[in-house]
Amino acid sequence: QAAHMGDALPETLDQARTAAMTCQRCALCDGATQTVWGTGATDAALMIVGEQPGDQEDLTGTPFVGPAGQVLRQAMTAAGFGPDQVWLTNAVKHFKFTPQGKQRLHVTPDRTEVDTCRWWLGWELAFLRPKVTLALGAMAALALTGNDARLSARRGTVERGLHEGPVLISWHPAYILRLSDPVAQNRARDDLTQDL
Ligand code: URA
Repeated sequence: QAAHMGDALPETLDQARTAAMTCQRCALCDGATQTVWGTGATDAALMIVGEQPGDQEDLTGTPFVGPAGQVLRQAMTAAGFGPDQVWLTNAVKHFKFTPQGKQRLHVTPDRTEVDTCRWWLGWELAFLRPKVTLALGAMAALALTGNDARLSARRGTVERGLHEGPVLISWHPAYILRLSDPVAQNRARDDLTQDL
């Protein structure tokens, strides 16, 4: 990070976004196509934070456009609002993956990567000042609160964020998709809608 010490601090959300586009704070920039910055309403009361971009997000540069994103978008529709009414972003802004044949398989970011990328999440929080933040899954919850406890007992509860604001904890949509029991999956989808 020493190379960044002389960098000017962003004074606007736009300046932060521009700076993040060439981020080399960790090694994830080497394999990823591009930085996936947040999107949505800059005056939103709600900021939704996922883990990291997936394959589709990495290619398009937009968060939550892949299969897990569809789960989130459906839950938002069910809750009665649209993606343009919130700010959608991720704890880690580069896609971490391992190649397998022609596919790129998601790899969970490690704690160091989450800590390093908190720099950008911090600027998003500082400039957007959401009333409440929704953490999707354990890594987003860790990034926002510093608490790495298991998610099962925390979902649906509000914790205080490192930025001092309230953080509501919910399931990660990719976790919901992986639930093979349809009853359990529907219950988790309902939980996410309730939380939204
Ligand atoms: N897509 C994203 O942008 N973030 C996630 O956490 C999952 C899917």
